[in-house]
Amino acid sequence: MNVAQDIEKVLIDKDTIQRKVEELAAKISEDYQEKDLLLVGVLRGAVVFLADLAREIAIPVAFDFMAVSSYGTATKTSGVVRILKDLDEDIQGRHVLLVEDIVDSGLTLNYLLKNLKSRKPASLEICALLKKEIRQKMSFNVKYEGFSIPDEFVVGYGLDYGEKYRNLPYIGTLKPQVYQAD
Ligand code: IMP
Ligand code: MG
Repeated sequence: MNVAQDIEKVLIDKDTIQRKVEELAAKISEDYQEKDLLLVGVLRGAVVFLADLAREIAIPVAFDFMAVSSYGTATKTSGVVRILKDLDEDIQGRHVLLVEDIVDSGLTLNYLLKNLKSRKPASLEICALLKKEIRQKMSFNVKYEGFSIPDEFVVGYGLDYGEKYRNLPYIGTLKPQVYQAD
């Protein structure tokens, strides 16, 4: 069995992702010159993106991770978020860049931002590889945004469906029969 066999269409290929990652990393390297930058990855989806992004950033960075669970179905979040794993680092006075795979409704990030702000970081910004074009109930700005995509469920490059497909090197949509099989 091959992980690619369930993919209907490739939305963003490997090279296009790599170029965007380089572009975002260049901006980040410039904006955070001489600053103590902490990349906070949201487990598990942001791991692939964070690993590639960090390796293109030219300034010293530290990593930390948070795990959250958002209640809902396999393809939609409900907005009720629970912290499963908190940061190990104290972020007070530090420059925090929250790294996310995708902003869909924005509810997960909205919750995380509120939570992290209360810990008094020196600054707090968002870097998200993907943002869905519609349906955003959010009041925050994504300073570093990779791609704006249509309102379709996507997998690959860290993004999963039922914990599968995270290891695909590109971003794509699934064949309808994959959902029907569940
Ligand atoms: P939000 O709270 O609706 O913005 O959803 C954010 C989280 O839902 C992301 O961090 C993903 O884990 C997941 N998610 C949203 N859209 C997709 C998608 O198209 N594919 C895979 N996961 C998604
Ligand atoms: Mg997920």
